[in-house]
Amino acid sequence: MENNRRPSRIPTGIPGLDELLGGGYVKNTVNTLIGTTGTGKTIFSIQFLLEGLERGEDCIYISFDLEKEDFERVTESLGWKVADYIESEQLKVMKFHVEDTSFLNSGIMKTLGQLAESAKHEHEVRIAIDSFTPLITTIDERARADVGWFFRNLRTAGTAVITLEEPFDGRINSSLEIPAFLSDCVIHLKNIGYGEIYSRTLRIVKHRFSWHNEGVFPYSIVEGIGVVVENKRFEGFKVDVSKLRVSEFAKTKILKLAEEGIISEKDIEKIIKRIL
Ligand SMILES: Nc1ncnc2c1ncn2[C@@H]1O[C@H](COP(=O)(O)OP(=O)(O)OP(=O)(O)O)[C@@H](O)[C@H]1O
Ligand SMILES: [Mg+2]
Repeated sequence: MENNRRPSRIPTGIPGLDELLGGGYVKNTVNTLIGTTGTGKTIFSIQFLLEGLERGEDCIYISFDLEKEDFERVTESLGWKVADYIESEQLKVMKFHVEDTSFLNSGIMKTLGQLAESAKHEHEVRIAIDSFTPLITTIDERARADVGWFFRNLRTAGTAVITLEEPFDGRINSSLEIPAFLSDCVIHLKNIGYGEIYSRTLRIVKHRFSWHNEGVFPYSIVEGIGVVVENKRFEGFKVDVSKLRVSEFAKTKILKLAEEGIISEKDIEKIIKRIL
């Protein structure tokens, strides 16, 4: 964090979320997303990186279970082009095996070290670890104490988003509690399935160093946009969606989000640039 009273912010890239976080994530922090399967954690993580890529920042996506092709499949399903960023190495997609990640001697630490170096050279760095659960659940008690140390390294390297799988029974066991406790920000994504508006909800559980909104907000996942918090921020406006290369269903949804003042003209411009 910087010396002045207001910490600098890293825009999340999720429409509607920065306002709830007091301006975005705080720079050089570790930020957790907790949610059951299918709540959009992977999409959120990639969206966070896309925002950085478009701002010229260096980004890295770390996974333990997804193959590289899976990453591309997720971006394709949302209509986002990332191949050029991967080609130019502005975006690195890395897969680690849980078996070879003893904290003190892992490929991750080497990668983080390199990132911290590049961060020193004035580049903003965004890191997504999706998901952190395989790592935390396979390590032993003693090594869990090293999570704090690992997070300190992450913060030096850049601003990170890590995801944690919440079990369906809603019981957050101790192995998930540790990273949540040590994180600077925790966002809880929920899919309660009550249909339409309140089917998916987002709540900021904590945000160290910052004000945050304490409400529960509906969110959706939309082709082209990704995760969008349904929080009215603007005057509604009419948008011509005919040229958007997304499904008819997504077009209708985007039209509605614009009319309701949930997304801005700037958001629309961003989507157009982003999609294939
Ligand atoms: N093109 C799309 N349009 C609308 N919704 C989509 C689209 N693609 C995916 N989704 C939604 O996103 C969900 C998957 O999101 P994501 O993969 O980010 O979830 P996750 O929390 O990472 O889940 P997992 O436990 O599989 O890692 C799908 O279940 C679906 O509801
Ligand atoms: Mg996922």
